[in-house]
Amino acid sequence: MLPQEFIRRKRDGGAVDPADIAAFVKGLTDGSVTEGQVAAFAMAVFFNGMARAESVALTLAMRDSGSVLDWSFLPGPAVDKHSTGGVGDNVSLMLAPIVAACGGYVPMISGRGLGHTGGTLDKMDSIPGYTAQPDNDLFRRVVREVGCAIIGQTADLAPADKRFYAIRDVTATVESIPLITASILSKKLAAGLGALVLDVKTGSGAFMARARDAAKLAESLVAVANGAGLKTTALITDMDEPLASAAGNAVEVKNAVDFLTGDFRDPRLEEVTLALCAEMLVATGLAPSPAEGIAKSRAALGSGRAAEIFGRMVSALGGPTDFVGKTGKYLQAAPVVLPVPSPADGFVASIATRDVGLAVVALGGGRTRPRDAIDHAVGLTALAPVGAAVARGEPLAFVHARTVGQAEAAAKAVAACYRFGSEKPKTPKAVKRRIAL
Ligand code: URA
Repeated sequence: MLPQEFIRRKRDGGAVDPADIAAFVKGLTDGSVTEGQVAAFAMAVFFNGMARAESVALTLAMRDSGSVLDWSFLPGPAVDKHSTGGVGDNVSLMLAPIVAACGGYVPMISGRGLGHTGGTLDKMDSIPGYTAQPDNDLFRRVVREVGCAIIGQTADLAPADKRFYAIRDVTATVESIPLITASILSKKLAAGLGALVLDVKTGSGAFMARARDAAKLAESLVAVANGAGLKTTALITDMDEPLASAAGNAVEVKNAVDFLTGDFRDPRLEEVTLALCAEMLVATGLAPSPAEGIAKSRAALGSGRAAEIFGRMVSALGGPTDFVGKTGKYLQAAPVVLPVPSPADGFVASIATRDVGLAVVALGGGRTRPRDAIDHAVGLTALAPVGAAVARGEPLAFVHARTVGQAEAAAKAVAACYRFGSEKPKTPKAVKRRIAL
């Protein structure tokens, strides 16, 4: 296969065959295909798309660029969830221990935040001593003994995606559905799962802001994953406002622990978390129906078992043994906490959610380049949701910042994200649609 002939075929709208895709991905991984050729191929796909069979072949070739994990030694099903990302999306922190408490095994390989979205791994890094990069033996042991482990991407899982994504990122070719599909699924297929549930976000804080685009991405992900042999369904969920009332890192961990212990639960976060848990339980045969899956998940929360599993996971991966009961002792607190006064009376009509995420980034809680360091202590709490009644001067949120100057700038930015109305708006459903084969 001559790379230039392969690229020409895709450039001219032709179909490329699986063997040539595999050879191209091999060259992409070992460096024998040049950066220019990878970029040209990405642009050809960006403009011409890919048929499902081509997408499946690209995804499988990228999966096979590194090692594939094997969970067949587990006594129950290995299952995971992937979210396309958003603001205040700390679902993974509750979902993994809930599903583990119901008999599933969740080897969760998650990512760092980039742009306006937060990353599960950055949140877990707020916990002192927590090892997000354990060796394979420890990862396998924690999943088997505790039921779940939230860790970071390892270098040997789908290495083709690392180079491909870096090139797409600087050549304006990220926003291609077949390329996003292959990128996300190659990593999930390499994780060796028995089933996968996708949380595809839509709304002003989502990667795919328009409902139509989110549905197209969800349909592609579900079709290609199943085509590649991984049982997968997707929920399309609302990201037109932050999902949790906290956005940041340590503040989202605190919010997650409060959720697990029952001290405090944001209603929309609860709806999305339980719906995703139920999908995972049904997909693995651990619940006969979504309603039973939700009931089982609620029971795992109510008995304290999910909170206990979260605590055991944290300590098995190097964190404190008493983390769940003593988050205040371990999570870094920001030195400055400032309210965001509401500029108006009325009801919260809408929230520019992407800008809320960017306010967290500006505080130092997110990154604009992959290698940036982040400040785990900063962020936002008590974010007023859409529909909340507020009076002028009352807090819309609290800013947690390193300096007074940064806190004041963030308070201004957050206030500007809010729009108000004189009538209470209808609360949109947090779970909008289910996509299955
Ligand atoms: N997330 C990924 O992992 N890959 C993409 O291409 C886009 C989002």
